Amino acid sequence: MTVRVIAIDGPAASGKSSTAGQVAERLGWAHLDSGALYRALTLAALDNLGEGGRRKGEEWPAQQVVDLAGRLPVRLVLAGNSFRPEVAGADVEQAIRGERVTRFVSVVAAMPEVRTWVNTQQRRAVGGMEVGGGVVVDGRDIGTIVFPEAPLKVFLTATPHERARRRLFQRGQAVDVELVRRESQALEARDAADSNRRVAPLKPAQDAVLLDTTALTLEEQVTRVVELARARFPG
Ligand code: DC
Repeated sequence: MTVRVIAIDGPAASGKSSTAGQVAERLGWAHLDSGALYRALTLAALDNLGEGGRRKGEEWPAQQVVDLAGRLPVRLVLAGNSFRPEVAGADVEQAIRGERVTRFVSVVAAMPEVRTWVNTQQRRAVGGMEVGGGVVVDGRDIGTIVFPEAPLKVFLTATPHERARRRLFQRGQAVDVELVRRESQALEARDAADSNRRVAPLKPAQDAVLLDTTALTLEEQVTRVVELARARFPG
């Protein structure tokens, strides 16, 4: 028997990780945030290979990043119900959320060798789980590339304006018109980078359930996915 997988994909700030985490909690399953692994790798590269004169890490040789990841190592470790990112034995869940990592991560995530390495880590982490419940995995390519056989795939969307508003609110920043406009543009730029890259672009799997969350609360979107999960995994 293999581990049951729910794949949740969608653009930046669509609430994937919050939704995936809460769905996992409600089902008693584990949660794996694949973006955390790309972020941990980016942090490791910044700290060990240096920003130097490079623009957004473009010239880090991909193989050097992958070798570094194996050497340090960069890993996902199951703690309680969620997989946490570690670099050289230290938990980096907080450190990877900063502006510096966010600025460089799209470039690292566009490297084919890095994606192959990350996908292997994810499949290993899930394959090594005790079979009991299952795992909710969130990212950009989970339903299309990493776990295409997942019985339930959900693709979350929301307008850039709504995603920008939520992000500012989360950060505790004033949600004024100009800030929302700027954040919304930054999100669209990241969407474009993720959607137009050659390898594993952001797109819904053919059999994904599309869920527009623009008018939904987090609680409502969690409930919708839990209902889909209960229908897809009865008993
Ligand atoms: O979801 P996030 O913001 O933590 O993702 C960080 C970056 O990693 C983002 O640029 C997209 C990329 N990513 C990806 O390419 N594939 C995934 N499965 C998850 C994240």
